[in-house]
Parts: sequence; C-alpha cells; structure tokens
Amino acid sequence: MSIKIKTAEEIEKLRIAGQLAAEVLDMIEPFVVPGVTTGELNERIHKHITEVQDGIPATLGYHGFPASSCISINQVVCHGIPGPKKLKKGDIVNIDVTVIKDGYHGDTSRMFEVGDVKPYAARLNKVARECLWLGIEQVKPDATLYDVALAIQNHAEANNYTVVKEYCGHGIGAEFHEEPQVLHYAAEELKDIVLKEGMVFTIEPMINMGKADIKLLPDNWTVVTKDRKLTAQWEHTLVVTKDGYEIFTLRKDEKPFLP
Ligand code: MF3
Ligand code: CO
Ligand code: CO
Repeated sequence: MSIKIKTAEEIEKLRIAGQLAAEVLDMIEPFVVPGVTTGELNERIHKHITEVQDGIPATLGYHGFPASSCISINQVVCHGIPGPKKLKKGDIVNIDVTVIKDGYHGDTSRMFEVGDVKPYAARLNKVARECLWLGIEQVKPDATLYDVALAIQNHAEANNYTVVKEYCGHGIGAEFHEEPQVLHYAAEELKDIVLKEGMVFTIEPMINMGKADIKLLPDNWTVVTKDRKLTAQWEHTLVVTKDGYEIFTLRKDEKPFLP
C-alpha cells in the first residue's frame, strides 16, 4: 500500500482545484431555496465549472455517475443524483462537488438548510460540521488517521449520533480516489497510517441521527439511512504541512468551526 507524497508543483495545482471547488459551493448558495429542483442546481454547477472555471466536473461519468454534482437531501447519506425533485422548506441538503483543473482534483461538500429547519435538523448539521473540524484539527506530521477518526467518532457519539462506516474520505491528487481510505470511525488498522508532510486527502464524515446502517437504492447510487432518519456530511480536501495542515477547499470567509 502506498500513499503518495505530493511535490510542491502538485500541491499548487491541488490548491487551485480546491479553491475552484470551494467557489462552486459559494456560487450555488443563493440558489438553494424552496422550489428549486436539484437538477437545476446541478445544471448551474455544471455551467460554472465548465464555462466560468474552464474545469472538468469529476463526478460526471465517474463509474457512470450521471451528473456534475451529488445532491443528497434529508435521509440521503451521499451520492444523490440531481433530478426533478424540488427542495422544500425544512430540508437539509448536501451538495458535493469535485473540480478537475490542470489534471488535479479538488473535492468538497457542505450542508445547506432550506428556509427554516427543525431544531433537531440544525443540531445535526452543526455537530456534523464540528466533527469535520475536530478531525481536521488532528492533522499534522506523525499523527495517525486513527487520531482523526477517533476525534470524529467521539464527538458524534457524545451527541447521540452515529458514524457511517461504508463510505470514507480518501487520498486525492491526479486521481479522484487514491490511498489512503480515511475512515471516520476508530478502526484499529488506522493506527498504522501515519501522516507525513505532503500527503493530500479528504475528510468527509457522514453523521446519522439514528442508526449507522445504510441502504443502497435500486438506482445503484443513492445511499440512504436504513431507518430513514436524517443524516449530514461536510467535506474538505487538505494537505499535511510541516506543522499541521492547509485546507485547499476553504470557502470565502470560512473559519474553523469547533464546538
Ligand atoms: N465527491 C464524492 C466524494 O467525496 C464522490 C462522488 S463519486 C460519484 O468522494 F460517482 F458519486 F459522483
Ligand atoms: Co466529495
Ligand atoms: Co471525497
């Protein structure tokens, strides 16, 4: 098993791709309103990446995925396919975008609240976002992915939530999904994955209100919670630096979001 250490040239390209992906999420924010379809949001994202950014939407055609973004509403854990479904007030929705620019990938996702949402939904969103940041805070040379996962799992469980096990973060670079697998729960094997300067990967915990179990819908993409309770996910792409980390997908005005 080998985790690539990126060169300075590769890191600069990943930084640019990451910034473009972050910019897509800022661009789409004002359009995430009641009544819009996820297909319309995807169309805007596709146009922005291809026409404004001169980039490539990595998900389009990836293992056959049919869209330029994943849009996952309420009980959908990840890989929601954009289409005719309309957002409605009270929904919580994840939009996940990956931009390829100059051969390198930037991958990020965030939750949006459509109008006012129920306090329990807002709380889930907040805790899921804190889970991402608590994981990020562990990143530095000689820490392990176990440290990252444990911070995430502890915070989720302290709030009576559960962590999805079947999907994980990943190394990223010239390939969309590279080694290592960044599990978000404290699996023993993660103790062997020691972080080194120049490693680039995503952290993208999926946090459930109910049980951790998931189910794949017959479209073979859409992943839902088995108990159909709410779920939330936030994702960043980052590099291990000499004394910590640099987040490539930080959005304009975004600050660390810690409990
Ligand atoms: N962007 C997702 C991730 O964070 C992957 C989506 S793959 C797709 O890794 F095929 F579903 F688009
Ligand atoms: Co993603
Ligand atoms: Co990812």
